[in-house]
Amino acid sequence: MNSMEKILIVEDEPDLANLLHYKLSERGFNTWLASNGEEAIGSIKRQIPDLILLDIMMSPIDGWEVCSTIRKSSDETVRRLPIIMLTALPAAGDKIKGLRLGADDYLLKPVNMDELLLKIQNMLRKKRIEDELMERLKKGNDIPALFYHEVKNQLHVIGAYSYLIAKENITRDKREQFSEILNNTASTVSEYLEGMSIFSKIENGERKIRMERFSLNSLINKIVASYKKDAAVRGLQVETNLDNTSDIVNLNSIAMKMVLSNLIGNAIKYNKKGGAVSISTSRGDGGLVITIEDSGLGISPDDIPYIFDRFYRSRSVEGHIAGSGIGLYIVKTLVNAMDGEIEAISSLGKGSKFITTFNSTFI
Ligand SMILES: Nc1ncnc2c1ncn2[C@@H]1O[C@H](COP(=O)(O)OP(=O)(O)OP(=O)(O)O)[C@@H](O)[C@H]1O
Ligand SMILES: [Mg+2]
Repeated sequence: MNSMEKILIVEDEPDLANLLHYKLSERGFNTWLASNGEEAIGSIKRQIPDLILLDIMMSPIDGWEVCSTIRKSSDETVRRLPIIMLTALPAAGDKIKGLRLGADDYLLKPVNMDELLLKIQNMLRKKRIEDELMERLKKGNDIPALFYHEVKNQLHVIGAYSYLIAKENITRDKREQFSEILNNTASTVSEYLEGMSIFSKIENGERKIRMERFSLNSLINKIVASYKKDAAVRGLQVETNLDNTSDIVNLNSIAMKMVLSNLIGNAIKYNKKGGAVSISTSRGDGGLVITIEDSGLGISPDDIPYIFDRFYRSRSVEGHIAGSGIGLYIVKTLVNAMDGEIEAISSLGKGSKFITTFNSTFI
């Protein structure tokens, strides 16, 4: 147990408050007291504990209100504070009310110390894991979160096709086609797990990733096929213009799949009904140029410098179109690790163009 963990006890009965204070200090917790809701809120503002034991019946501000104030706080650390409610009220409705207001657990008075300690330890363990995840997320090296995002995208595809394939009036041809897509998507999920290992190598300082020879054109065709349904639903035309002389490349196929899926996915997602997406490859100056162009919403010049940043989303899409702002960060990191460059050219309301270039790709 971490002896420095801080517990705020909010309890208006002095005997119980002192007993809890004594017992928890004895167990190595750093504890302090507040004797009503008002004091509790003031105290949290001065020092944020790791956990709160919260009595319900208090005045002027009761435990319900403290709980809902905490959960509505503008400070994320405060919002995530574990709360254990303490009460003499045995009514079942209270438990539901407490949990609805955001309490994490509930304990009846008279307090059973062993049970309370167990609950505290469990909750603090959960909080430590969460804190660590948040820390990694903020530092920008949370690999599991990045790939969780990728895998989730693919699971959407699997979900959609498994629904379609189960429809009664589906033709045999379609069923075969859908089952192939399902199959491909399932392998994509497993490739992403491999992608996770590539990414962790990059983030651990390995600057170059393993390259291999593969057909870029068939990779692009596969990705386009997997997005066919999404594009059709939105009435989008997707066209490819693939140069045969730049087909066999020396890159990392898993990384390229992630790069292209993200770029094509964005071109479809940020498009307008009836719009177009075009994917072309060409051989320029000994290198490879891949261009993904859409006739969609476009990106404002104010946003352009930031779109490859982790978690950045333009104000015009945030809240309207789902996304987490990680996609282009993954794209850029992987492209750079393969010695490539990526740039975006866009005109608001008209469309965007993402140009990826690799030098000496055809060895
Ligand atoms: N083709 C595009 N057309 C218009 N805006 C785009 C396009 N691609 C990216 N953007 C803008 O750049 C932002 C960052 O894109 P990115 O792919 O990183 O995240 P996202 O699509 O919001 O979420 P996700 O992590 O699910 O991909 C988007 O939120 C959007 O504002
Ligand atoms: Mg995206």
